[in-house]
Amino acid sequence: MTTGLATEHLPFGEKRDPQFFGKDILSVKQFDREHLETIFSVAHEMQGMVQRVGTFDLLKGKVLTNLFYEPSTRTSSSFVAAIERLGGSVIQINNVTFSSVSKGETLGDTVKTLECYSDAIVLRHPEKGSAAEAAAAADKPIINAGDGPGEHPTQALLDAYTIVEEMGRLDGLTVTMVGDLKYGRTVHSLARLLTMYGVTINYVSPQILRMPSEIVEEIGAGGIEQTETTDLESVLAQTDVLYVTRIQKERFEEPTDYDRVKDSYVITPEIMKGAKEDMIVMHPLPRVGEIAPEFDDDPRAAYFRQMEYGMYVRMALLALVLGRA
Ligand code: NCD
Repeated sequence: MTTGLATEHLPFGEKRDPQFFGKDILSVKQFDREHLETIFSVAHEMQGMVQRVGTFDLLKGKVLTNLFYEPSTRTSSSFVAAIERLGGSVIQINNVTFSSVSKGETLGDTVKTLECYSDAIVLRHPEKGSAAEAAAAADKPIINAGDGPGEHPTQALLDAYTIVEEMGRLDGLTVTMVGDLKYGRTVHSLARLLTMYGVTINYVSPQILRMPSEIVEEIGAGGIEQTETTDLESVLAQTDVLYVTRIQKERFEEPTDYDRVKDSYVITPEIMKGAKEDMIVMHPLPRVGEIAPEFDDDPRAAYFRQMEYGMYVRMALLALVLGRA
């Protein structure tokens, strides 16, 4: 990352927030409440602008690289949509198996090359810590779009923004995370981010997919009340936000372990009769059977709205990191 030195003569329209300009986005741990308020307020403005004019030229002339070593539909296409709605363009590298990486190039060399062509790099990689490694090699900002089972900070930011837009607040809510809490990077980031708000967190998972103890300890140290259980119904009635996750098949060493737990929790209209009227169900998607499609028409089903909020949050992050928000 750069040190964020602003030049004396900024081109027209450039406003640089030193908290964000030129910075990497690697983990939610780098943010405080004030940062989040800035991101949410810029995202809200982006939402209004997209609804009014669709596309505008805030990042005209800026080029983003999307470097994806793992499959992605939503994260990758929402970054493409975000930069294009802001008038910038994107170099899309989806299938690195067919690029010089397959010739044995290191991650450091790949990002050093791509930063010659672009202003920021969005990276998804199967190894925990890879985004930090890329950031150490690169001068331009690296945005972590998922480092294996590590973190997925932009997803957590859009998840938090979704909760604020849908529920009006974060403070005081009861958030229940269900599914694969061991390998699910989105819940690792979201739980950390929620520590900044006075929430209560319930973790519901099969025994072998519990939230890693170091994360539970970290969040407990932040004074957050946490409950772990295998029984969803025991916590459903108190839940304000039910955050459902996919069992991360690709991270299992033993396929038989996956088969044992894959259908542990399925959200159906029947089960949701036991939940509040005024609550929401979220999912980072893709789903592979954890939420029955019959539930999609329920007003509490917020997962497709959540994807739309994601584009506004990614627009906000790009504008802030590239110095034009
Ligand atoms: C998530 C991811 O990649 O971690 N998806 C996403 O970013 N929308 C969740 C998942 O793959 O299950």
